[in-house]
Amino acid sequence: PSGLLLDTLGRPLHDLRISVTDRCNFRCVYCMPKEVFDKDYAYLPHSDLLSFEEITRVARIFIAHGVEKIRLTGGEPLLRKHLERLVGMLRALPTPSGRPLDLTLTTNGSLLARKARALKDAGLDRVTVSLDALDDTVFRQMNDVDFAVADVLHGLDAAHAAGLGPVKVNMVVKRGTNDSQILPMARHFKGSPFILRFIEYMDVGASNGWNMDEVIPSAEVIRRIGAELPLAPSAPNYTGETAARWRYLDGSGEVGVISSVTQAFCHDCSRLRLSTEGKLYTCLFATRGHDLRALLRSSRPDLELSGAVAQLWRGRTDRYSETRTIDTAGLQRGAKKVEMSYIGG
Ligand code: GTP
Ligand code: 5AD
Ligand code: SF4
Ligand code: SF4
Repeated sequence: PSGLLLDTLGRPLHDLRISVTDRCNFRCVYCMPKEVFDKDYAYLPHSDLLSFEEITRVARIFIAHGVEKIRLTGGEPLLRKHLERLVGMLRALPTPSGRPLDLTLTTNGSLLARKARALKDAGLDRVTVSLDALDDTVFRQMNDVDFAVADVLHGLDAAHAAGLGPVKVNMVVKRGTNDSQILPMARHFKGSPFILRFIEYMDVGASNGWNMDEVIPSAEVIRRIGAELPLAPSAPNYTGETAARWRYLDGSGEVGVISSVTQAFCHDCSRLRLSTEGKLYTCLFATRGHDLRALLRSSRPDLELSGAVAQLWRGRTDRYSETRTIDTAGLQRGAKKVEMSYIGG
């Protein structure tokens, strides 16, 4: 491939997010509510998942097209057996610039205490850990499988100790469910090596029963924290960063807010998602993907795959969060949006 890949809005392709499993050991109320993801839920059979070899082949093609950052997600990516092997395979891929690939992982932290060291040794750079409360009772309500917060905190420490940092901590804020935890979380992580970020509850998928009333706008999160712990805005680390950064005036670190609902960041969205079964999605809120697995499994040459993904990106028009209305979000009429556990967070 030659030249920079730009979509119809002039956005480059920079970031590939790969979902390695659609399963999870948590049932977070905003993501995999128990009523929908019950024992009868049809997860993908193993033969439908992309193999590590297939994922690596796709990654190689995307890196040639300018992807510099790869994030492994799920579901819960650490449920995929021997994931560190995939990390090692991706780490070994050469980049056109010679700069090392930014290789990261998003996890619920439940298996991190056990796996942090092996992931680091295989070449993972960093992890982002989802954590929605510090209070054990609230945390158990959020994950809905009675998982103890202490175990995730151990996972965080293990990740930091293994050198998988700076470790980011993501908290999805749902009004009336865990907003009591905004300040305790801010106090706990202030001055620590962990970077805390608050995520607005989004209308992803079709099963979480999203309602605007349950969204706490990031501006309110910042107001609540700032009233006790004074904050000032900070410049982004890079264009296209999902989080807006705020630093503590006393110099003890920063927090971030990811405001996909109240302040959309589609204008410089450079992310492409590869689902567990090998479909490409040009937006988190897409209703359909583009089947790459069919090409992968029909002995087509890399050149053909490369051309297909370039064409897909060049034709990309997505800006869902900028055009979202109560109608498109809350009522979820018409085509069903795909679930985040399948497409990858
Ligand atoms: P780093 O800054 O490198 O840590 O990466 P990141 O912020 O892109 O990744 P992270 O996985 O931490 O993203 C945080 C959260 O932001 C995700 O879990 C989603 O909830 C949300 N998010 C990420 N990308 C998008 C996106 O393209 N659109 C929307 N609407 N939300 C996104
Ligand atoms: N709104 C906002 N964030 C969500 N996540 C999952 N579902 C939602 C939602 N509906 C977050 C998780 C995790 C990341 C993978 O995506 O909490 O941090
Ligand atoms: Fe699992 Fe993450 Fe979804 Fe929670 S948010 S159910 S931990 S995939
Ligand atoms: Fe990108 Fe779609 Fe999210 Fe907008 S809504 S930032 S286009 S993934």
